[in-house]
Order: sequence, then structure tokens, then C-alpha cells
Amino acid sequence: MNHPPIVLRTISDLRANTASWHSEGLTVGMIPTMGALHDGHLALVAEARRRVDRIVATIFVNPAQFAPTEDFGAYPRTEASDVAKLAALGVEAVFVPTAQEMYPVGHATTISLAGPALGLETDFRPHFFTGVATVVGKLLIGGFPDIAMFGEKDYQQLLVVRQMVADLHLPTEIVGLPTVRETDGLALSSRNAYLSPEERRTAASLPEVLNETAAAIRAGGNAGEACRAGLAKLKSVGFRPDYLELRNALTLAAPTPGDAGPLRLLVAAWLGKTRLIDNIAV
Ligand code: PAF
Repeated sequence: MNHPPIVLRTISDLRANTASWHSEGLTVGMIPTMGALHDGHLALVAEARRRVDRIVATIFVNPAQFAPTEDFGAYPRTEASDVAKLAALGVEAVFVPTAQEMYPVGHATTISLAGPALGLETDFRPHFFTGVATVVGKLLIGGFPDIAMFGEKDYQQLLVVRQMVADLHLPTEIVGLPTVRETDGLALSSRNAYLSPEERRTAASLPEVLNETAAAIRAGGNAGEACRAGLAKLKSVGFRPDYLELRNALTLAAPTPGDAGPLRLLVAAWLGKTRLIDNIAV
């Protein structure tokens, strides 16, 4: 039977807790989340368990990464069951700050980004990565973990965080793990809970189109044509796509002719009121 995790609510407690583990010579892994934990998050915990001595998961629905028109209010908040899931995996600490703790009145500093933050998500959610990078930066500086774990489902986010950590010389290794999927291929996401049963059935077309498009490109087809065909198929089954694009997997720049790769195919599309994202290696 695992001990329940210590619940930390302030940055100073987060910092003191990690400092005390480090002073004992223990390594520390952080798993930043917005809660509503699913098996994708739990896979991050399991991998962290293999790599470090102590784990701190963070649960914070970060207002700075939502535009006023987005689902900040509706985002699922399930702290008690999240903490129970983390306890079952032996996570030692959970950081659950308030918005006031993370963004006290007068907070005025954000992280400004370029490189992998340009395009794709930023074209449709211009506020998003500044909000993500600012909160992840604050969490990493708050806890100074040795590693921090992120899922490849949010591939652009993973590259943005890696770039930010490198540029700010933060002493944390960013570990990215493969997307965990349902049996029909849909990537696990806390937002899948918004889908009606009918939308949930249609949602399986998103990974299907990604796979078909990637296969066409791998077979030597023209990437632009393959993406246009994929977008048409998504529309025909009821999606409103934001983008389906092939990018350089390391920089997220548009691939140049003869780009030696690696390449990544990324998609974002609305189904009813739910926006889904996914990506695969090509
Ligand atoms: O991927 C998420 O859940 C969030 O964007 C993150 C990294 C926890 C920052 O709020």
C-alpha cells in the first residue's frame, strides 16, 4: 500500500520539498499536468518511476493558456480522483497551486517565444504557447527537477518547452513520451470527455487520416496533395480542420524540397465544440 502523496500548495513548499530530496542525494522528476488524468499521464508517471527516485506531479488548470472564448471554465477539475490515481502509482508529491499563487496580483512577466512556437497552434491560438511556456517555466524554476515529462500528443508544446529550457539554461532534462491511444487509434486527451457518443465514433477518423496521409507521403506522394486529400476527408466526415501539415520534426519549419527529415505530420480539427490535435512521425 503506497503512502498518499504530500499535497503542496505554494511555490515555497514545492521548492523546499525538492531541495530536501536533493539534499538526500535523490533525483526528482516533475510531471506538469492540468489534471483530469488519463492513461497518457499515467504512462509519464510510470516512465518517471523508472528514471528518478522521487516524483512530483503538478495539477493546475493554467488560465494563461486559454483565450477568453475557450474552455477554461468547462475544463474538467477532478483533484480528488487525480490524487488517488497518483497515490496508486506511488507518486510522492503533488503540487496543486491556486491561480493567485501562480499569478499574484501585479504579475507582469511572460516568456516570449519564436522558433518551434511559430505557426501551427499559434496561428489559431496565438496566446497559447506564451501561457504554456510561462507556467512551465515557473514550475521548473519553482521545483528545479532533474527531469520533466511531456507527452508527444502535444508535439509542438514538447518542442517549445525544450527550446525554452535550452534558451533559459534551466537544469532540467525534458523527456517526451509516445502518445497513448485508444484501441481505435484516438489519442488520449482530457478533452475527449467533451465528445458525444456519435462524435466519439467519428473522432477515430482523425488518426486514420493522419496514418493514410503519412503513408501517401512515405510512398513518395506530393505532401501538399496528400494533406489536401486528408483535409477533404476530414471535412467529409464532419470535422472542421484548422490544419494538417507536414513539418520538420526537429524545428517544425516547413520542410524544404529534399529535406532529409525527420518529418512530422500534425493535425488540429474541430468536431462540434471539441478541438482535437494529433501528430505522427512520417
Ligand atoms: O499539456 C498540458 O497539460 C499543459 O499545457 C501543461 C504542460 C501542464 C501546462 O499547463
